[in-house]
Amino acid sequence: MAQYLNETSRTFSEYLLIPGLTTKDCVPNKVSLATPLTKFDGNGKPAIELNIPFVSAIMQSVSDDQMAIALAKNGGLSFIFGSQSIEDQVEMIRKVKNYKAGFVVSTANLTPENTLSDVLSLKAKKGHSTIAITSDGTANGKLLGIVTGRDYRVSTDGLDKKVHSFMTPLSELVTAKLGVTLNQANDIIWEHKLNSLPVIDEDGNFKFFVFRKDYDHHKENPSELSDEQKKLLVGAGINTRDYKERVPALIGAGADVLCIDSSDGFSEWQKDTLEYIKSEYGDSVKVGAGNVVDKEGFLYLVEAGADFVKVGVGGGSICITREQKGIGRGQATALIEVAQARDDYYASTGTYIPICSDGGIAQDYHMVLALAMGADFLMMGRYFARFDESPTRKLLVNGNYVKEYWGEGSNRARNWQRYDMGGDDGLKFEEGVDSYVPYAGRLKDNLAVTLGKIKSTMCSCGTTSITMLKNKAKITLVSSVSIVEGGAHDVILKDANR
Ligand code: IMP
Repeated sequence: MAQYLNETSRTFSEYLLIPGLTTKDCVPNKVSLATPLTKFDGNGKPAIELNIPFVSAIMQSVSDDQMAIALAKNGGLSFIFGSQSIEDQVEMIRKVKNYKAGFVVSTANLTPENTLSDVLSLKAKKGHSTIAITSDGTANGKLLGIVTGRDYRVSTDGLDKKVHSFMTPLSELVTAKLGVTLNQANDIIWEHKLNSLPVIDEDGNFKFFVFRKDYDHHKENPSELSDEQKKLLVGAGINTRDYKERVPALIGAGADVLCIDSSDGFSEWQKDTLEYIKSEYGDSVKVGAGNVVDKEGFLYLVEAGADFVKVGVGGGSICITREQKGIGRGQATALIEVAQARDDYYASTGTYIPICSDGGIAQDYHMVLALAMGADFLMMGRYFARFDESPTRKLLVNGNYVKEYWGEGSNRARNWQRYDMGGDDGLKFEEGVDSYVPYAGRLKDNLAVTLGKIKSTMCSCGTTSITMLKNKAKITLVSSVSIVEGGAHDVILKDANR
């Protein structure tokens, strides 16, 4: 006979936090949001720690290199989506690892033998008007010149005109040597009235551009998440099919952490993947697994070697897994059970495996509830998809700006590996939708508001760290009637859009 769990499975909106004593030193600017991302090593410290408890979802419509750079600069981490070719994913990882504030690895490069027509189509494709001309047309070939809009006249120049006949050659360019600081580079830009300054190494190989317009955007960021060489940290999604080729390529490109991406992670496919990675790389490669919704699933992945475990089936905003397959669990209930399993595992083995609450965060206050319920960090898709930095188009729909946001299990993403149950039976059905989310502006500005709310709630609970919050939080279930009481009620709102 089937086993029945008679406890109702619940989600975040059904809970609230009860304020604790706020002492005088419990103020938002003393709150630390640092939190472990991966398993603790022998010294009782996580191998990787986040400065804010957010990671962006392993999704085409959320996590590319631009999102990864923006989020790491603000203390979180992106897992670059794996539903693309290994080469393309590697390229995105490289771009993040090569990023240095103000030093831009050029993505628009040609050789002197290319034509004006190539310049125009590259400009249209990449959106950059400054093109580096190198010996081999790559971002690291010998620098031979640059082409900007000032070098050609579309109305009179023939489209088959060769680049070498109109580029500004190296001999006429002001360049800087690798090792130049951002301040020095900017002094050169001002002194010579340049728009861009190419930086080359001692052999004349092209390394970076420094652009005049970027300078103001690149002030130091105190919460930046970077490694010892000051390179930003970045993660990558992998699947249980091509990991033997994908993992070495991603590690070679500098990925700091991997995560197996699947809607149902309680599977022998995940175990095989974890065991393969651990047998090839030992503990030097960190890899998370999931998603699971109960203690059994958590322990299974931990025993197989997971460095963190992701929790959540069917709660994502674009997710229709529950409707399609009838599997899943209320996100809060799943999280509470897995957090207990994590604590019990820690008590009995001394090994702390962080857990991630993935999907279903619809309000900022859900984030602090998830942390109080035991999540070490949160993975979010919808939240990040709304920002300038997400990879999707910003559109005007019915008078409002929106961004596109589609699930990995939608026909648009066609990430069938994520939903793979093994075998090649060809059974494919959608588990996600294609949608819009309201456009919300810059990641940095939105994060500042969200993190401000989280810190303020933590102070109301009398806590100044995530560990304290987990240990001290008092959480109550709320009735549907009291949920209504939680919003503005029994008044006529002046702003109907509120
Ligand atoms: P959100 O933050 O509520 O938008 O949820 C994002 C999460 O939904 C992701 O991190 C995935 O775990 C999950 N997800 C992504 N695409 C799909 C899909 O197509 N179907 C079901 N779940 C998805």
